[in-house]
Amino acid sequence: MALRVGVIGGGQLARMMIAPAVELGIDIRVLAEDEGMSAQLAATAVGDYRDLDTVRRFAADVDVITFDHEHVPQEVLRALVADGVAVHPGPDALRFAQDKLDMRARLADLGAPQPDWARVADVGELQTFLDAHGGRGVVKTPRGGYDGKGVRVVSAAEEAADWFSGLADGDALLVEELVPFVRELAQQVARRPNGESVSYPVVETVQKGGVCAEVIAPAPGVDAEHLAEAARIGREIAEGLGVTGMLAVELFQTEDGRILVNELAMRPHNSGHWSQDGAVTGQFEQHLRAVADLPLGETTPHADWSVMINILGGPADAGMLDRVPAALAASPQAKVHTYGKAPRPGRKVGHVNASGSDLDTVLAEARAAADAFA
Ligand SMILES: Nc1ncnc2c1ncn2[C@@H]1O[C@H](COP(=O)(O)OP(=O)(O)OP(=O)(O)O)[C@@H](O)[C@H]1O
Ligand SMILES: [Mg+2]
Repeated sequence: MALRVGVIGGGQLARMMIAPAVELGIDIRVLAEDEGMSAQLAATAVGDYRDLDTVRRFAADVDVITFDHEHVPQEVLRALVADGVAVHPGPDALRFAQDKLDMRARLADLGAPQPDWARVADVGELQTFLDAHGGRGVVKTPRGGYDGKGVRVVSAAEEAADWFSGLADGDALLVEELVPFVRELAQQVARRPNGESVSYPVVETVQKGGVCAEVIAPAPGVDAEHLAEAARIGREIAEGLGVTGMLAVELFQTEDGRILVNELAMRPHNSGHWSQDGAVTGQFEQHLRAVADLPLGETTPHADWSVMINILGGPADAGMLDRVPAALAASPQAKVHTYGKAPRPGRKVGHVNASGSDLDTVLAEARAAADAFA
């Protein structure tokens, strides 16, 4: 019988695990939130991932549970573990990707470099932090944020008053110093339950309007020292937190060359999509290998440069698939990935990968294909 991997969540990350699962002979099954989701091809169940009975029923027919997102409640995850289900990443690791306050506290314990931060329970506490940090800061809701939602740059504590009034008793917000970064990087690591791990070269991520727009692998101009430092930070976090599967560490690079940890994702991540076509082992295959406790694959890039460009929003006339031929024609070297999602302003509906020896040429090729979806 084929090894059965159950993925909770039917988004594009689950969708992109399907092809490598088929290649490896893994029986991949998805618990989707709704009918017609991105990963519907592998959906064997539709239901609420917050409902223990639903998740239990789904988990009963698989050998390992993993995720398309980090929103499955801790109570549900812990009940699965108590049932004897293999859950990767496990709840003890995943909580640090679920709650940014828990993450900051744990990274401090591990000695990972990170921005100054504080837990703030009211406007007064926030103002105290701002006063100590040049009057500005970045306020974050600890849970449930994505694509920049739940992140607000403020120059007065009052600007976060609505978030404070929405907090449940005993809850708090995270505030961080506004890091004057020169660019954002991301480090991908894969780690098996037996502790074996591999790292990808650190990449540069370019955000527009709080959403990842482009990724360049490896990060241009990064020297051997920073390459090694980013890999070390990634490995130490994977180890220290006991992460299994893919880990993405979002990083800031500062003017004086420091690298600080922004946040963590314990699953394939947008910053690693380039590896699907640009590395010996893509992150979706690597995630499956890691959570199934199979030997990990090489992470070596196929070319000097790889570029990933997100297709954001998609064509206004909703004719996403109608544009594919034009994208393929615009750049025969580029690889087009579509997510089967309805276009909507700002929504990630696909991406384009390209690789080669000259970065400008690779960027132009990827952009030519991506522009066909504008
Ligand atoms: N302390 C900070 N200083 C400066 N800029 C920041 C800081 N924290 C976040 N940002 C900016 O806001 C973006 C989104 O923040 P963060 O990654 O915490 O949010 P998210 O919504 O959870 O992320 P994602 O877009 O990865 O889902 C970052 O990529 C960065 O550009
Ligand atoms: Mg982020």
